[in-house]
Amino acid sequence: MLKFCFSFLFLTGLASTFFSQIQPFPVIPLPALATSDTGSFSITPSTLLVDSLNEFFDEIKAFNEQLNNYFGFVLPVASKSAGNSCILLFHRQEGNGNQSAEAYSMQVTKQNILITGYPAGVFHGLETLFQLMNGQIEISVPCVSITDKPTFGWRGMHLDVSRHFFTKEEIKKYLDYLALYKFNVFHWHLTDDQGWRIEIKKYPLLTQLGSERKETVIGKCSDTAHYDGKPYGGFYTQEDIKEIVRYATARHIVIVPEIEMPGHARAAMAAYPQFSCTGGPFEVATTWGGFDDVFCPKPETFQFLEDILTEVMQLFPGPYIHIGGDECRKKRWKSCPSCQALMKKEGLKNENELQSYFIRQIETFVHAHGKQMIGWDEILEGGLAPNAIVMSWRGATGGIKAAKQKHQVVMSPGTPCYFDHYQSKDRSTEPLAIGGFNPLENVYLYEPVPAKLLPAERKYILGAQGNVWTEYITTFSQVEYMSVPRMCALSEALWSPASKKAYAGFLERLKLHQRLLDRMKVNYATHFSTQK
Ligand code: ACM
Ligand code: ZN
Repeated sequence: MLKFCFSFLFLTGLASTFFSQIQPFPVIPLPALATSDTGSFSITPSTLLVDSLNEFFDEIKAFNEQLNNYFGFVLPVASKSAGNSCILLFHRQEGNGNQSAEAYSMQVTKQNILITGYPAGVFHGLETLFQLMNGQIEISVPCVSITDKPTFGWRGMHLDVSRHFFTKEEIKKYLDYLALYKFNVFHWHLTDDQGWRIEIKKYPLLTQLGSERKETVIGKCSDTAHYDGKPYGGFYTQEDIKEIVRYATARHIVIVPEIEMPGHARAAMAAYPQFSCTGGPFEVATTWGGFDDVFCPKPETFQFLEDILTEVMQLFPGPYIHIGGDECRKKRWKSCPSCQALMKKEGLKNENELQSYFIRQIETFVHAHGKQMIGWDEILEGGLAPNAIVMSWRGATGGIKAAKQKHQVVMSPGTPCYFDHYQSKDRSTEPLAIGGFNPLENVYLYEPVPAKLLPAERKYILGAQGNVWTEYITTFSQVEYMSVPRMCALSEALWSPASKKAYAGFLERLKLHQRLLDRMKVNYATHFSTQK
């Protein structure tokens, strides 16, 4: 019986020699361990998915929805196997080692496919199966034994829906892609200067006024900017949000909602200008970039933000609330009598400390409600709030600083985690993007734990995420183009053991996996297809 570890072959650079053997396993992210065996298991339209104790209802439903939505078929589900030729799902026995809840094993034999794990693990196993089925209901899956688990606990993708809005159905598609590559966090950037996108019952003007801008700048902002003259808007009702949360939860994805403060708040202040320093009036921003008007840290502003966060926390069951905290300009605070009086009263030496005061107030509130607050790395300025998680975006420096202060960190440095950057050196052939150059290989080679950290500090790095800011991404099709396959590369950097990673092997699998993306009609970027 010929047995070999195909991931080892990638490592040793022998992949092409054994191409015919590895061909059946174009799985992304690469499983931690996979050994192939001879023979195959044939899936047909009557192959049963067997859940004998009815433990995986949500996971099977999500898997079959995915098959149905993309390919128009499902696998029949049963609680009893009718002999051989079925796909059996087993719950991992409690106390069976200290396995990650996301770990799974999968045995494909000539008789059966067995997937074992806790529910999250079984779901990841079903996604592996989805990739192996390759969009076909009649398919031979080669015999293989997979033992798989993630390297990092935070494997995130972000999406900005403020600069451009994406529908509920498009968000579900995005979640499908996250599930396909075993991501477990969706960071949903719901508010910014250019649009407020979440219904808040107590403050209806946030969406009545704040969700619509009168027009949008064309191309890059400049002094001679041109505008399209077309109103642009959209928002999610609380019912939409609940539906999306259910959809994500069934796919073992936690949603981290982001409500921006104290900066990036023009849309909110267009609706409620009394929470600014000057009283406004303001319009929802029609250009990109930063703005001087930000929330004024006065008691009524905190009440307003806490009321909003109360509704947000009720809508999102996950443990995290992201409050932004980035790029807050301090100009208005410097000349605002209320801000200056507060600084004097609280003994705050400068406006960075006032920002820190702002974030601490909010962190105390979020923490008291049993959630953990996350902010971009600017929340380090003026002193970090006690239980805050830092999202490091201006390089790794913020993440390193926070980990040294024993705070948890999510790494998301512009290079290589910003998927709104160009993916080709030749910009003339690319859709307009914000800038930068962030090719697939850089994403693939990313190592989230900075080498500068001492061994005891490394545990504070929860993982990493890819960010998709949408100033220049106007359609969902373009979201796909910017995200895929960089999302595939990131999934491997976060899930697969570092010792197994090899870009050449990844490219081989991606070229095979491409058939599935074609069948799913994903508008992925194809730069990799000419790479060796
Ligand atoms: C950011 O990109 N402003 C977090
Ligand atoms: Zn003020």
